[in-house]
Amino acid sequence: MCGIIGIASNKSVSINIINALKKLEYRGYDSAGLATITKGEINEKKCPGRVEKLEKILFQNPSEGKLGIGHVRWATHGVPNKVNAHPHSSEIVSVVHNGIIENSDELKKKLEISGQIFKSQTDTEVITILLTEKLKKLDPLNAVFETLDMLKGSFALGIIFKNFQDFVIGARRGSPLAVGYSNNENYLGSDSYALKSMTNKISYLDDGDVCLLSKDQIKFYNSKKEKINKEIFTLSDDKSSVSKGNYKNFMIKEIFEQPISIKTCLKEYIDKIREEINFYNLPINPKDIEKIVLIGCGTAYHSCLVAKYWLEELTSLTIETDIASEFRYRKVRFDKKALYIFVSQSGETADTYAALDICKKQNVKTCSIINVVESSIARHSDCVLPIHAGPEIGVASTKAFLGQMLVLYLLSLKISESRKDIDQIQYKRKIIDLKKLPSLITETLKEEEKIQLIAKDIYTSKGSMFLGRGSSFPIALEGALKLKELSYLHAEGYPAGEMKHGPLALIEDGLPVVVIAPKDKYFEKTISNMQEVIARGGKILLITNSVGQVISENVRFQIDLPESDLSLTPFLFSVPLQLLSYHVALFKKCDIDKPRNLAKSVTVE
Ligand code: AGP
Repeated sequence: MCGIIGIASNKSVSINIINALKKLEYRGYDSAGLATITKGEINEKKCPGRVEKLEKILFQNPSEGKLGIGHVRWATHGVPNKVNAHPHSSEIVSVVHNGIIENSDELKKKLEISGQIFKSQTDTEVITILLTEKLKKLDPLNAVFETLDMLKGSFALGIIFKNFQDFVIGARRGSPLAVGYSNNENYLGSDSYALKSMTNKISYLDDGDVCLLSKDQIKFYNSKKEKINKEIFTLSDDKSSVSKGNYKNFMIKEIFEQPISIKTCLKEYIDKIREEINFYNLPINPKDIEKIVLIGCGTAYHSCLVAKYWLEELTSLTIETDIASEFRYRKVRFDKKALYIFVSQSGETADTYAALDICKKQNVKTCSIINVVESSIARHSDCVLPIHAGPEIGVASTKAFLGQMLVLYLLSLKISESRKDIDQIQYKRKIIDLKKLPSLITETLKEEEKIQLIAKDIYTSKGSMFLGRGSSFPIALEGALKLKELSYLHAEGYPAGEMKHGPLALIEDGLPVVVIAPKDKYFEKTISNMQEVIARGGKILLITNSVGQVISENVRFQIDLPESDLSLTPFLFSVPLQLLSYHVALFKKCDIDKPRNLAKSVTVE
């Protein structure tokens, strides 16, 4: 993943680099570094750990310089230590890199044979050494183009040069890169969010582009070295707070923000007067759609799975779901009458972007459901449906998951109504029920204290299982993902009906098993599956909406959620699972907002 930043200015840049790196930490946080041109020399400082640590190093020993690059790392090649941290510098050039150089081993072997010595285990150092060699004969721009020609894989690069102290060079292939414009200062960054506190004027590099950025101008070149112009976008003035307020961390703040984020999103898509769902810009008339393909990764993929149940229930369409990293390499038969929907909070997930790009090349209709409207996926798809959740900072996705499901549900209803799969009365009733969702979530959040007690009871367990049927199955998957991600406790999500085909062997005395059982058509079946687990010693946490009814004496804990339209249970049943993973992680003293080994935006495949 990794985040990169570059600044050319008429004043010292290191503080602004540090501040931008803090914003980029969602892309990686296992090491950080920066390089400036100080008194004519490349001045590199880096360390394993967070940007805060780098800031302390700079506090004791400041880096002066009006030109610099910075990096936060999510390790791909080599452990997170100081040597492998970026920038990777020689005497004359310094490089920060986001992405993966796929032929780095091959290039490294050749360079070693010719006598080059590598200090790190990274793929990036290959670029530094190649550039250092090429700069003996070429000017920086040509040295960069010749080096890029030798690289395979995906990357965004920021480069500074000892002998050319007026500019930073940026290059993009596969990984996103933006530039920002200001007075006597210009910027390079992995995304516009990192640059937002410094400027709202942004351009985006396309694949193959290179830019040369000095304090008072930015020049762009395409992959053929031709000079090009770029459109300048003005970023929206997003006033939504990115501070924790009175909350302990971002995750719990984001969980409690859900009634508001859902309300905001409903307002965006439902016409108050006509009680009508509006989707103006779909690239294909719902009446002409024959198939819908839903694609995403991780939590976003789980929202796609939930939507499959809704769409199959509400329409007569064929629905497929796919994990982006699988879709992109399969021999997929594309369908001109299908709508390909890409779901992503960040809009920068490399696999999802690649899957979208494949669809674009096949000329099929695409649509993205995203949170970050300036993102690469949003800009590349035929139509964008924002989830309006506001910035999500915690690595574990919570309010974005509910937002993704909400837009998918609204879309399911709209498609169903347009195709006359449901009648007007049903459609209007569903909208009225949907508008109750924010207050139902507020009600559900009141279960927190009870969930805290459950977390205390289970946090020392060795493993856990999450079971559900129908649309509660993807919610079980999501509950298990949240618990693994936040508390490092092993968790398996399973369709309850599959237990007897193998996983039942895992059940032993005291193993926590979370059973998600709304009073829907699967309820009795799920409860029978739960009894099979009880008979083998499983410790049951039952989440239901059976209004206080005792389902079984042998249930260790029962959480009763408010009654709702059954289509809405995926939203409500997700909330206690978010709270459970949060409190288990708190008991285990885990880093809630930045779980180990992860990053918020997964920009490598
Ligand atoms: C969610 O808690 C995860 N951190 C992760 O699975 C995430 O949903 C996935 O990486 C996809 O990210 P995106 O929504 O930004 O594309």
